[in-house]
Amino acid sequence: MKIEFVAAEAEAGAKAAIAVLAPENTPLAGAAAILDAATGGALQRAIDGGRFTGAKGQTLDIVAPHNVDAARVILVGSGPSGSFGAEAIEVAGAQAYQTVKTSGADVLVLKLPATSAELAAAAAFGVRLAAYRFDRYRTTEKPEKKPSIKKVRLEVDDPKAATKAFKRLAGLADAVIFSRDLVSEPANILYPEEFARRVKGLTGLGLEVEILGEKEMKKLGMGALLGVGQGSVRESQLAVIQWKGAKDPNAQPIAFVGKGVCFDTGGISLKPADGMEEMITDMGGAAAVTGAMYALAARKAKVNAVGILGLVENMPDGNAQRPGDVVTTMSGQTVEVINTDAEGRLVLADAIWYCQQRFKPKFLIDLATLTGAIIVSLGKDIGGLFSNNDELADKLLAASKTSGDALWRMPMPPQYEHNIDSPVADMKNVGPRYGGSITAALFIQRFVKDTPWAHLDIASTAWKPNSTVPTIPSGATGFGVRLLDRLVADTYEE
Ligand code: BES
Ligand code: MN
Ligand code: ZN
Repeated sequence: MKIEFVAAEAEAGAKAAIAVLAPENTPLAGAAAILDAATGGALQRAIDGGRFTGAKGQTLDIVAPHNVDAARVILVGSGPSGSFGAEAIEVAGAQAYQTVKTSGADVLVLKLPATSAELAAAAAFGVRLAAYRFDRYRTTEKPEKKPSIKKVRLEVDDPKAATKAFKRLAGLADAVIFSRDLVSEPANILYPEEFARRVKGLTGLGLEVEILGEKEMKKLGMGALLGVGQGSVRESQLAVIQWKGAKDPNAQPIAFVGKGVCFDTGGISLKPADGMEEMITDMGGAAAVTGAMYALAARKAKVNAVGILGLVENMPDGNAQRPGDVVTTMSGQTVEVINTDAEGRLVLADAIWYCQQRFKPKFLIDLATLTGAIIVSLGKDIGGLFSNNDELADKLLAASKTSGDALWRMPMPPQYEHNIDSPVADMKNVGPRYGGSITAALFIQRFVKDTPWAHLDIASTAWKPNSTVPTIPSGATGFGVRLLDRLVADTYEE
């Protein structure tokens, strides 16, 4: 699909769909008003004759009036007038695309109410995110099920300025899409070494990538991470991604750490068969970190950032870790493994320790599809935020509001610490069922030194089987990429 910005009044064509934005309960304005006037009030008549109010998410699909060079005209509700901000325009662009994507139309012409370059870029960004599909493994899809839109044309006053404004957002869209692809890939294709290879492939963006194998990790004493991967025939990997965009390449970096369990069977504490296939997404944290690093590099962010990915596969096997095993983490602390299905925290324990030891970051944020309990707590649209630092937590919450990646802060009550006491080791890897996301966060906190730290439990949000959000097609969401990009852009760049 091609996206282009053109000066107003471009050719549309017999199979084109023209989309105009309509604010809620407000007379048509801008391009919509012009089109309405040119068609003798056809748009307004369609609105007056039905229930379309212009509310967000509403669309009204009408046959193009006789003197319009297109097959259809789509009115896209964009919410209360006066709120034609980038976010509303982005969603409206996505909504317009979703409405026509398999309609048979080949060109979507977007006529925006305001023609600023930034808003046009935001609309195009929405279209890119909405058009995401993971269709690599479909060989027999019926033609009528395939998207028909080949070209999206946005009418703007200054196509050059819009193209330029879109460049930054296109990089971010690429990053989100890269992250979504990683999450979508099945585990027979995307195992730790393959994940590492794909990350290596990003050096072209200016990222530095190192991969540590099991031998190196053993030397470092990463007994917790290695214990998780022990039952897999695939070798565990630790990926270290660096972006040096600050003036001083040695300036203290910020750091992201991702859980990259390429498949989580639960190990010897085997998961039930029903729904286990969704555990191909258990590397969603690592995918988000990869996407965030991609985004920073793509826009040459003026910051030094490190991304660490703990890449393993959690399998049952004759050599797999057993319940009752005691492992020694890189920090020296020992863990009694009560449940081999609570593996993410074991991977993070060593990856987080390594990150602090080597990089002494300004702050560290880990992302992980860590607990089913966070889905129970927050539902499928909101990620859990845990932090030892109010300032970092507040910055994340602010970035969450503007990026669309929703977060809710969760407590870390010290009185729950005893839940992970072990009779034989420094701690055990699970507590009681209730408050499971909290005990998981408390566990991870034990591997944080005095670094400002936040933990994002994204088991709720990394994968949306039935999405109703126009910018997020069902499946991998790319949650976290926009959030971290925003956080850096708003608060941590030079
Ligand atoms: N990867 C899962 C968490 C998960 C659940 C992610 C659903 C995405 C969707 C994690 O490794 C896990 O198995 N957690 C256990 C922890 C329990 C054994 C303490 C859980 O949530 O049941
Ligand atoms: Mn698990
Ligand atoms: Zn897991």
